[in-house]
Amino acid sequence: MNDLLNSHPIIPVVVIERVEDAVPLAEALIAGGLPIMEVTLRTEAAVAGIEAIVKHVPSAIIGSGTVCNPQQFTISEDIGCQFIVSPGSTDALLKVAQASSVPFLPGVCSPSELMRGLDYGFEHFKFFPAEAVGGIRLLKALQGPFSQAKFCATGGIGLHNVMDYLDLKNVMSVGGSWITESSLVREKRWQDIQRLAGEAVSLCGH
Ligand code: 3PG
Repeated sequence: MNDLLNSHPIIPVVVIERVEDAVPLAEALIAGGLPIMEVTLRTEAAVAGIEAIVKHVPSAIIGSGTVCNPQQFTISEDIGCQFIVSPGSTDALLKVAQASSVPFLPGVCSPSELMRGLDYGFEHFKFFPAEAVGGIRLLKALQGPFSQAKFCATGGIGLHNVMDYLDLKNVMSVGGSWITESSLVREKRWQDIQRLAGEAVSLCGH
């Protein structure tokens, strides 16, 4: 997980409502300079959308998100996800992820959740929902007791605050839906998505 997050400070969080949107969406992100994406398993189209991207856009680095149980974890592995993200952590999910070779980012937002994840051997976490639980201040407070933990901060992050997060020493990357807002996807505004991806890339200098 370390290499993935290190090389990709911004991870677009994507909701696919129609399978047909998956490939042009991935292509727009890549054209804008963001080859990595987390496709949330929140819609019926998500699994087929990921499969389409895996098949037709080989340069995409694709992960599944909103993975809430072992079944969704196993499906994600089976369809070729290169990483897996959850919004929170359960023992069932941590156990199946521990036994898997696919990099996993368990969701945490408190010291106790973090301690449980560390107990399972994880050191990289999704910090979610970042802004709602204390954002930068909470992340700074976690640095002392949990210096080994690194985060992908997600939830309420956009162009206005992305650099504040990336400047923290325990934040390796941020996730967010601002680049692939659902109205843009619904209206197939691939050029706009490409532009927003490009803006994000130039802001963080990658
Ligand atoms: C997620 O699923 O990771 C978050 O909902 C993304 O958060 P955002 O929509 O506030 O960027």
